[in-house]
Amino acid sequence: MGTEKRDPVTGRMTTGHDWNGIQELDTPIPRVVLFFLAATTLFAIVYWVLMPAWPLGVTYTKGLLGIDQRQIVTQQVNDAAAARAAWTDRIANASFEEIAFDDTLMHHVRETGRTLFTDNCAVCHGTSGTGGPGFPSLAAGAWLWGGDAATIAETIRVGINSTHPETRASQMMAFGQGGMLDRKAILDVVAYVRSLSGQTLSEAEQARVSAGDAVFAENCAACHGADGGGTHEMGAPSLADANWIYGGEAQSVYASIYGGRQGHMPHWEGRLSPVDIKLLALYVGTLGGDGR
Ligand code: HEC
Ligand code: HEC
Repeated sequence: MGTEKRDPVTGRMTTGHDWNGIQELDTPIPRVVLFFLAATTLFAIVYWVLMPAWPLGVTYTKGLLGIDQRQIVTQQVNDAAAARAAWTDRIANASFEEIAFDDTLMHHVRETGRTLFTDNCAVCHGTSGTGGPGFPSLAAGAWLWGGDAATIAETIRVGINSTHPETRASQMMAFGQGGMLDRKAILDVVAYVRSLSGQTLSEAEQARVSAGDAVFAENCAACHGADGGGTHEMGAPSLADANWIYGGEAQSVYASIYGGRQGHMPHWEGRLSPVDIKLLALYVGTLGGDGR
């Protein structure tokens, strides 16, 4: 070990340590570092005393101020519920017509309804309710069961072919698979169905339309209506418009008739509150189906 001496370059003292000719300057820790070290240590101690800090097995040091984030959140949730109750109570007690004509309530319907719809319905019906293959559009005004708010609310409550005891049941039988119609009869009725919606038919299809008309009257009109306009009692869609759940091309129509269709719409009673179902029914009504 050497002795302390002055470093010729910096003019500072060295510590006197010497490692293979390299000497260590005796540079003190800057004041500002010491200051912040002291300040943060002090802050930490004060914080531990005042606020919840140290875990102690099953409990923790609660702090003198008694601040509890869990209580704060509970309080905030309660406050939000109270603020919501002001208008959810009115929604719960008002009729669909009264709400539809109340701009303030309809504002809440649009805001909250959109959130509820995005969270629960958009996976199947699309974010703007326009549906997709196998999932009907709720924005086209072409209803299976009916488009007034009360009917929509009931559909949401019990579902379609769902596990709810009061579920709406909808069944499009497998006419081909079930052996009820042979291939010719199906091709005939496919052509007829496509003529109902004014689609351009091939010559071969045109030749089948009148035979298909007879097949339709006998097998299909009971559910889809004599003119193919659909019936709400059976949840049978109109076949005479441009809205298709499964598709209007010859192939899709053939598949619908050959193999049948049975859409599943989950029921929401028990999973959504009655007020939320009411909000959603009104919100679905604003998607473009029936104007309001
Ligand atoms: C798992 C997919 C799925 C989810 C989620 C879903 N639906 Fe449906 N929904 C369907 C299907 C499929 C049908 C059509 C059933 C059929 O073909 O008979 C349908 C039908 C409907 C109908 C009947 C439309 C008519 O024309 O009468 C309404 C209304 C409806 N859904 C609203 C909703 C709302 C509101 C939600 C969210 C709370 C929702 N759906 C969530 C699949 C779903
Ligand atoms: C017992 C009532 C019932 C009978 C009878 C019936 N259908 Fe259907 N049909 C339905 C229902 C309900 C749906 C909707 C099924 C679903 O989405 O789950 C449907 C759906 C369809 C579809 C699909 C429509 C779309 O939007 O994609 C076609 C096509 C169709 N039916 C044609 C026929 C033809 C043709 C016949 C006669 C051979 C027939 N149906 C007989 C109830 C019936």
